[in-house]
Amino acid sequence: SQYLKGVQHLCDSGITRVPSKYVLPVSERPVTKGGEKNAVDLNLKLPVIDFSQLQGPNRSQVLKSLSKACEEYGFFQLTNHGISSDVIHRMIDVGKRFFELPYEERAKYMSGDMSSPVRYGTSFNQNKDGVFCWRDFLKLMCHPLEDVIPHWPSSPVDLRQDAVTYSKQTKFLFLMVMEAILESLELVQTTENDTEDDILKEFEDGSQLMVVNCYPSCPEPDLTLGMPPHSDYGLLTLLLQDEVKGLQIQHKGKWVTVEPLPNSFVVNVGDHLEIFSNGRYKSVLHRVLVNSSKTRISVASLHSLPFHRTVEPSPKLINEANPRRYKDTDFASFLEYISSCEPKKKNFLESRK
Ligand code: SIN
Ligand code: FE2
Repeated sequence: SQYLKGVQHLCDSGITRVPSKYVLPVSERPVTKGGEKNAVDLNLKLPVIDFSQLQGPNRSQVLKSLSKACEEYGFFQLTNHGISSDVIHRMIDVGKRFFELPYEERAKYMSGDMSSPVRYGTSFNQNKDGVFCWRDFLKLMCHPLEDVIPHWPSSPVDLRQDAVTYSKQTKFLFLMVMEAILESLELVQTTENDTEDDILKEFEDGSQLMVVNCYPSCPEPDLTLGMPPHSDYGLLTLLLQDEVKGLQIQHKGKWVTVEPLPNSFVVNVGDHLEIFSNGRYKSVLHRVLVNSSKTRISVASLHSLPFHRTVEPSPKLINEANPRRYKDTDFASFLEYISSCEPKKKNFLESRK
């Protein structure tokens, strides 16, 4: 159908109304204000974790805030993380320029193959969605990096270089944050590094997927969504949003908007980490609103367990007081499940309890 060409293409054709393909049933629309059941447009200040403070004498205090954030919000903002604003701006900028390329150029990277190293597409799951989302995306697999780079888009000319730098630095940051998370779960201690190294080695081998999202401005933003409510499947997602807000998370039963904080990452717990922590850290539903004035770009870096690794609660977090909460599963069935269900309606974690 024409809609598979994406929202950017649709907007370029000069529409002034949202086509019915994108109009959500009333109960699923992003009602702002007015007290409907999925209402509210509250701004939320997420807990802020100052990464530089983790490296100093305040580490144990910061670890407490980190664990509180993962338990109560499933999300936090990471500041002073050591990735330069230059690297961040280049990534956002080159992502934006990719979506400004002529449609024919972008279309070269369209693929229905979930395991393709590069995939340009639209909506959430364009093969399954009845109602489409107001979103185009470019997915770049980042593992093993040297093998996938030649498949990445050759234009804009600086895309490969900027994306390589960005993916390497976010992978390193992910490992550092993951180390802190293991420590916050009391699975490792700073003084004895043995166990820690084992788990971290595995995480080093984990998969990484970079998703550049483009949400063009929308003539009727109250009728549709940029992304439907979903949780992320991996261990952690490191998300960059530009200065345009749109990300909402479910917090205490309400949808709340995450205020962009320049040069910070929005970090969230994924399903793998919820399972690994035996339910202590929460993989929280989130969605994206669109607006009528500005295009929004975001870049998500999703970090997961190695493909063949069983996803299971850490044995050290299971005891009499804390019985095992999830069945084991493997990454492949995870992905299969995700691609076979409607987004949001079913929750993988619920089905694994
Ligand atoms: C995502 O949920 O993966 C993307 C969120 C966003 O664009 O802010
Ligand atoms: Fe997400």
